[in-house]
Amino acid sequence: MKKIVIFASGSGSNAEKIVLHFNKKNHANVFGIFTNNPNAKVLEKAKNFNIPTEIFNRHELNEGKVLEKLNLIKPDLIVLAGFLWKFPEHIIKQFPNKIINIHPALLPNYGGKGMYGLNVHQAVLDNNEKETGITIHYVNENYDEGEFIFQKPVNIENCKSAEEIAQKVLELEHLYFSEVIEKLLT
Ligand code: GAR
Repeated sequence: MKKIVIFASGSGSNAEKIVLHFNKKNHANVFGIFTNNPNAKVLEKAKNFNIPTEIFNRHELNEGKVLEKLNLIKPDLIVLAGFLWKFPEHIIKQFPNKIINIHPALLPNYGGKGMYGLNVHQAVLDNNEKETGITIHYVNENYDEGEFIFQKPVNIENCKSAEEIAQKVLELEHLYFSEVIEKLLT
């Protein structure tokens, strides 16, 4: 059984889709959901699915405590699904090519520090882009710069707000993220 660990900071709709997807499979499953945010909705979702959770602060993430917890689980894949803090180098080194992130835009555009959630979609709207999309990529030491695994564009000519763009992009994420994860684990 391949082990997935998810890191999420917010609502966790992607995390939920991933859990539901792998609950129907028998070769991989989600063994833990880690968050930096004690109020994250993803925690309720994890509880409903009986998935163990870890809440950590910046010190615990950067000074080894989170790595210790990961080493107990020994994940085959670490999935950042709406995780908003920079991922520490010592964990990246320990899990080479085993950490992926989903970004709500077509990288290399609209990536980097501060580019998350609605900030991304507002910037896309302000630039009158005709399309945006999703990027799933490996995580390296720099924000949003690891090797691309998958991209999918979506037309947003009819979108009038950042929220409308966010909705379209989230639909794409829900459609493709679990499939991409499954491919990486087979
Ligand atoms: C997703 O749109 C994800 O791409 C984005 O946060 C959202 C989380 O939604 N991630 C980033 O912006 C990372 N830079 P969710 O909590 O409902 O899955």
